[in-house]
This record gives sequence, C-alpha cells and structure tokens, in this order.
Amino acid sequence: MPYGQFPYQRPRRLRISSAIRDMVAENHLKPADFIAPVFVMEGENMKEEIPSMPDYFRYTLDLLMDEIRELKEVGIRSVLVFVKVPDDKKDNKGTEALNEQGLMQRSVRTIKKEFPDMLVMTDIALDPYSSYGHDGIVEEGEILNDESVEVLAEIAVSHARAGADYVAPSDMMDGRIGAMRDALDDDGFKHTGIMAYSAKYASSYYGPFRDALDSAPGFGDKKTYQMDPSNVREAVKEARMDEQEGADIVMVKPGLPYLDVIRAVKESVQLPVSVYNVSGEYAMLKAAAANGWLDEEEAMMEALIGFKRAGADLIATYFAKAASKLLNRK
Ligand code: PBG
Repeated sequence: MPYGQFPYQRPRRLRISSAIRDMVAENHLKPADFIAPVFVMEGENMKEEIPSMPDYFRYTLDLLMDEIRELKEVGIRSVLVFVKVPDDKKDNKGTEALNEQGLMQRSVRTIKKEFPDMLVMTDIALDPYSSYGHDGIVEEGEILNDESVEVLAEIAVSHARAGADYVAPSDMMDGRIGAMRDALDDDGFKHTGIMAYSAKYASSYYGPFRDALDSAPGFGDKKTYQMDPSNVREAVKEARMDEQEGADIVMVKPGLPYLDVIRAVKESVQLPVSVYNVSGEYAMLKAAAANGWLDEEEAMMEALIGFKRAGADLIATYFAKAASKLLNRK
C-alpha cells in the first residue's frame, strides 16, 4: 500500500470533533468582514419592511441611528448607504443626487456625527434619482457614457464633502473610476476611498432591491452597461482597469452565481476583493427558510463562508447583522 494513501491517510481524522474542525478550518468569517447595506427614506419615526426582503427595512434617518447602533454593537465596521428618492425629485440627470441637503448627504453627515468610527460607504449611480431608472443619463433611448461619468464624479465629490469615507460607484460606465479619483483629488479628498463595483452583471437578482428603492428601469434593461452573465475574462479586464484607474477595493456582484468570477478577479488584482450578496440571493434564502425548506442560519453561514473560500475579503450582505450575532455567540 503506497504511503500517502488509505489507510495511512484518513481525512476523517481531521473532522472527528468540533475542536479539530475549528483548528483546521481554512477560512473564517468575522463581523468586520461584512458591509451592511442600509436603506434610508424621508420622514420621521418610521420603518417599513421591504415586501420582497423579509426582516429587512427602510428607515427614516432618526430610526436608522438605532439600527446602526445595533450593527456597531455586533461588531460591524461599515455601512453602505442607499436612499429612496421621492418621484417628484427625479429627473434625467439625477440633479437631486448633487443636493447638499439631499437625503444621502444628510444621512452621511448624521451617521458620521453619531458614529465617527463607522466606515460610511455611499452608492453612486443615477438610478435612484433618475426619472428613467437608469444608472446614467438617457438620450433617445441610449445611456450616455461620458456625460454620465461627469455627473457621477460630481456626486462622488458631494458625498465626500458630506463625510463619506468611501464612495461605491455601481453604475458600470466606462472610465468612471479614474474620473472620480481625479475629481476627489482635485477637491482635496485624497483620503476618500473608492470601492468599485468592477464586475457588476446585468442580473435578475436585483429585483427586490429595486422594489426597496422604487428604482426599476422605466424602459429596456441594463444590458448595455452591466455585464453579460456569460463572461469571466471581461470581469478580469474590468477589475484590472479599475485597479489602474485608482480603485482601492474591487467588487463582484451578484455573489452566489458568480463565485468563479470572485476567484478569477482575486487572482488578477492586488486589491482587496469584495462581493455583493445581493437582494435576490437574500430573498431566495429567506423564502425557502420561511417555507421550512432550508435551515436559515445554516444556509446563510454556508453561503457566506463560500464567498470567503472563493476569495472574497469583504462581503456586502443583508445578512450582516444576523451572521454577526451568530458569530459572536460561538
Ligand atoms: C444601483 C444599485 C443596484 C444594486 C446596488 N446598487 C441595482 C441595479 O443596478 O439595478 C443592487 C443591490 C441588490 O440587489 O442587493 N445601481
């Protein structure tokens, strides 16, 4: 019997007790790995459950503070802020996105004032502000690139001015990372970071998120700017371009159907890689758990460790709080 094979090797010896399993675990999760997305709406003293995202809420800014306190208490270090913009403030150029008194800017200022240590990231794209629900400016049915990039760079500066630690462009226009880096530097925001949604796919898994923000595209789809799910080389190209344009963190989105993309990107750039475990992935698991078809906690933790195994350093997830609580209990 050749040495190195059964019975000299019995892999089950490394699985025989929880002590040994914990000791040899190759990947680990901790609350600081998570980025918690938060949805903010206008008003006072209200929270609304998002119908397609059970147990996940939109908060008015006052109540959001209680939620962030809880996130902090369980060990989460960063939030990614999204705002729901009233319809009458939407237009083609997303003008409201630049309003210094806009909901995003107020949210960032308030969070940073109450929780200076919480790392605040802001989503940058036109869709929540766009009357067309697209991520860029629309002209005759086309999503303009360079014109959109100009506005997006101004939005980045506006968020930085409000106190954002990181801006997170999710629009997928070409050249936006370089433009944002230049704009931020020109305005003196050299320490404001960029987490680039580098490989963001045109995905059906964003459906519940668009319900949360009422931001579904009014016509067509996002396939002329978000990526084709068939592609992985293209993801590597996008991530490398963003690295060269000055991104600090690159992201792959969605998560579970794209674990191979996380791995490919991880091996191609020298930056931390994050993954966005998106709304549809959350909804899917919650729905199965609600039906008693899956064990919610176990399925959640298995998905999250899967991201780590694939190569993700950071995980934006609606499970951030629930998973952190579980990790703290262990
Ligand atoms: C906005 C944006 C979207 C998501 C994050 N930022 C939606 C989209 O591109 O249509 C999706 C997040 C999720 O589904 O959880 N550009």
